[in-house]
Amino acid sequence: MALINTWLTDRFDLDLPVVAATMAGVSDGRFVAAASSAGILGGLGVSGAATGDWITEQALAAGERPYVIGLQLWGVAEHPDQLEATLAARPAMVSLSFGDPTPYVDRCHEAGIVVACQVGTTAAARAAVDAGVDVVVARGGEGGGHGVDQVATLPLLQSVLDVVDVPVLAAGGIASARGLAAVLAAGAAGAWIGTAFTTCAESTLPDGVVALLANAAEDQTSHSHVLDIAQRTGWPAEFGGRAVTNAFVEHWTGREDELAADTDELARFAAARDDRDPEVLPVWAGQGAGLLDGQRRPIADIVDDLAQAADLLRAAGASVRAEVG
Ligand SMILES: Cc1cc2nc3c(=O)[nH]c(=O)nc-3n(C[C@H](O)[C@H](O)[C@H](O)COP(=O)(O)O)c2cc1C
Repeated sequence: MALINTWLTDRFDLDLPVVAATMAGVSDGRFVAAASSAGILGGLGVSGAATGDWITEQALAAGERPYVIGLQLWGVAEHPDQLEATLAARPAMVSLSFGDPTPYVDRCHEAGIVVACQVGTTAAARAAVDAGVDVVVARGGEGGGHGVDQVATLPLLQSVLDVVDVPVLAAGGIASARGLAAVLAAGAAGAWIGTAFTTCAESTLPDGVVALLANAAEDQTSHSHVLDIAQRTGWPAEFGGRAVTNAFVEHWTGREDELAADTDELARFAAARDDRDPEVLPVWAGQGAGLLDGQRRPIADIVDDLAQAADLLRAAGASVRAEVG
């Protein structure tokens, strides 16, 4: 039985209204299966360059419980087999983010798949609902990985909850029971949490990267386009990425055009990244990194901690004074 009931727990038979975010390079099928066993909705992260075969393979590992496949729409445009493999896998939910979901929504609905879209502004939330999505993920600029850095999670969530009539999940900077309780109290149907799960035992990140993440303080991440330019990954210019701030990001922020044209520097970057040089390596993470302790704890343990949101909400409810006569 769910500890906290919302649309999300009821729709997908979860114990806690939490999605372990779809994180390319972090959350594979095994990660999803662990999230499912822990009573939350697991997210399979699909990179823009992934093949349909990779999705099919990971979907098998994900198991039979409801889960989410997270597509990066600019990647789907380049690799249409990503969509075909996703439809064939029939996850309970698909996240169509980082682009216009309109061309894909009907096909997902025909396959019986709930469609979510991550948005970074209220206007984008309205556009997503107009495109027919079933769930809006209001993702603030403090979140890890890609998105826009225009509005922080709380002001975005308040505004989006007021203007859309579909369930809203909150994302960006939610990394403990306190954050989960806060967004549920505000009216979110759940939290879409990335950074707090990056260092879990089932994350595909190597130990060295987990150590970098764990050592990052709350003010040691930054949102930029520098790492995408350096990696030449094809991310549309409107989306940047939040990562642990390193010397490379600091050096090139504000000089992106110069970097894009500097082929020697790009070659040096690629070599240093392959050597996992911490001053160069992209380590995607949000401001919630400051709350990580570096222990590679199983997802189930992290979920146990998040479940304390129920106590916080009970305590908050008890502190509301009944109206006096
Ligand atoms: C390492 C990492 C990789 C990510 N990769 C993806 C991705 O492939 N697709 C996607 O939709 N979102 C991706 N995201 C963004 C998450 O879905 C989510 O919006 C974000 O993690 C929420 O903020 P938080 O990190 O503060 O919890 C990624 C986030 C991180 C930290």
